[in-house]
Amino acid sequence: MAESSTLHPIPWAKPDFWGREKEYVADALSSTWISGGSYLDRLETGVAGYLGAPHALAVANGTAAIHLAYLAIDLRPGDEVVVPGFCFLAAANIALLMGAVPVFAEVDPKTWCVTAEAIERVLSPRTRAVVPVHSYGNSCDMAPIVDLCRDRGIVVIEDAAESFATRYRGQATGAIGDLGTLSFQATKTITTGEGGMVLTAREDLVEKIRLYRSHGMLRTRYMHDVAGHNFRLTNLQAALGYAQFERIDDIVAARARMMALYREHLRDVGEVTPQYFAQDVDPVLWAVAVRIDPKAFPQGRDAVMAQVAELGIETRPGFYPPTAMPDLYPGPIDISVCEAVSRETIVLPCYPTLISDEVGRIVEALRRQKK
Ligand SMILES: Cc1ncc(COP(=O)(O)O)c(C=O)c1O
Repeated sequence: MAESSTLHPIPWAKPDFWGREKEYVADALSSTWISGGSYLDRLETGVAGYLGAPHALAVANGTAAIHLAYLAIDLRPGDEVVVPGFCFLAAANIALLMGAVPVFAEVDPKTWCVTAEAIERVLSPRTRAVVPVHSYGNSCDMAPIVDLCRDRGIVVIEDAAESFATRYRGQATGAIGDLGTLSFQATKTITTGEGGMVLTAREDLVEKIRLYRSHGMLRTRYMHDVAGHNFRLTNLQAALGYAQFERIDDIVAARARMMALYREHLRDVGEVTPQYFAQDVDPVLWAVAVRIDPKAFPQGRDAVMAQVAELGIETRPGFYPPTAMPDLYPGPIDISVCEAVSRETIVLPCYPTLISDEVGRIVEALRRQKK
């Protein structure tokens, strides 16, 4: 289309290198410490301090972090793990991979995060763990979830892959439950290309995480205490991540500015509702997600995305619910709110260097699709 060819394309995400990334990666290279090395310690110590987690263990990616959390609590075949029915489904998939059973809970229709009430409805004597997923940078209402699980001896593993630096009642997401997991994948708030972390205050779990992270081998080389994985992050990646982490305040400020721009531009666009953030939550957005009213957009979400793409703007759909993949997640699963949120959600371009004109263009492209 003539219009899209004259305007520059706007990608959905774009990693920004804020500071000394090249210098630190070159330093790691020239040191020859490309697997282990001092940037790993610096990244782990820095993130632990910043998030207020006594232990932060760097790993290969956010999915490996969830896998390690499950291994650390000795999740067994047949154990049940409660996960939201609307989220990126890594926590459900790793449960399945380990022979455990993901049990899906409803989300709140405004925050799109799982609630204590919804979790309580699906608990059973086999529930071992609950995984609140802090979608798009929001935070689940953690206090009632922690209370509910503590009373019953259920482990809380926060999936904070999308909510690095988001705070709930002043505490960092990921550092509230027994364990927390982070992702440093390319689109995330801090990136190492691929990467992640496990956070915990539970001293009894730290050694297990270290063991499973590195071949089950900690004390004597080639002596394995458990059948472990290699889920380590490299020093090269940590060098990149540490340079990003050094600029975390700038990154958080830029993401807040981006959120404010969207708020301003979306203010008088009816029938497009952004994700809701409760008073208790100080969000650092990974993504800007909006829910479109099907009455105003009768052509449907996918058609709207296609029309917006014609104008050079890349968007993503909301996460598909497990009921869309019945072979993988057999039902019955009662999650009508998750299904509606999924159907009506569009995730807009979101990276800290987006400028006001671009946000205006994105919102205008969306507005134009209203019937
Ligand atoms: C909520 C959530 N959990 C887990 C993951 C998996 O992280 P990774 O891609 O680093 O394996 C992601 C996304 O990437 C995610 O969004």
